[in-house]
Amino acid sequence: MYVNDTLYLNCRATSFVLHYVVLYKFCWMLVYAFCRYMRFPDVKPMPSPKGNFSMTAGDFLEVYTNNDEWHCVATCFFIDCAPNVVQFIETIYDILKPGGLWINLGPLLYHYSDMRNEKSIEPSFKVLCDVIKKVGFEMEKCSTGIKTKYCQNPLSMLQYEYDSVFFVCRKPVDIIMDS
Ligand SMILES: C[S@@+](CC[C@H](N)C(=O)[O-])C[C@H]1O[C@@H](n2cnc3c(N)ncnc32)[C@H](O)[C@@H]1O
Repeated sequence: MYVNDTLYLNCRATSFVLHYVVLYKFCWMLVYAFCRYMRFPDVKPMPSPKGNFSMTAGDFLEVYTNNDEWHCVATCFFIDCAPNVVQFIETIYDILKPGGLWINLGPLLYHYSDMRNEKSIEPSFKVLCDVIKKVGFEMEKCSTGIKTKYCQNPLSMLQYEYDSVFFVCRKPVDIIMDS
């Protein structure tokens, strides 16, 4: 399994977590919700001693450039981070082996939409599905309105919820090229 993030600090934090460090948050407020400790990940990320796990820092578009390399790409709260989501979709398609799967969960809250002087392509989910098929994927599963939480303290009285989309796409085994 390979993990990628563009921000060095995120990589450091992930590396910290993946090495099974128990994190304690000492707190200056005597409130139970802030003083308890948590241990994560709650599932072991490496399924077997033979499994590979690595993390690469850098832009997804620049790090993954070998075509037909991966059996599966899983993206979670990720595709809307791109200024051009179509480039992400094309890259995911290219790096998957024929027959490979792309599994995605997350909202479409395009991160570049409010940024001044930044271009941002923000297709609706319906248009995005058309793009995904046009790139060459076969959509095997697709659901909208999936209630998801992100970075939540479950004991907090403030809770955010995202209406996420979930889909599973396959790169066809037999690729028919458009003439
Ligand atoms: C909303 S977070 C989701 C993180 C993680 N997938 C999760 O579910 O907790 C999006 C992450 O994508 C990273 N990111 C944004 N653009 C990226 C790019 N072009 N290449 C690699 N990582 C990127 C951000 O730094 C951020 O850590």
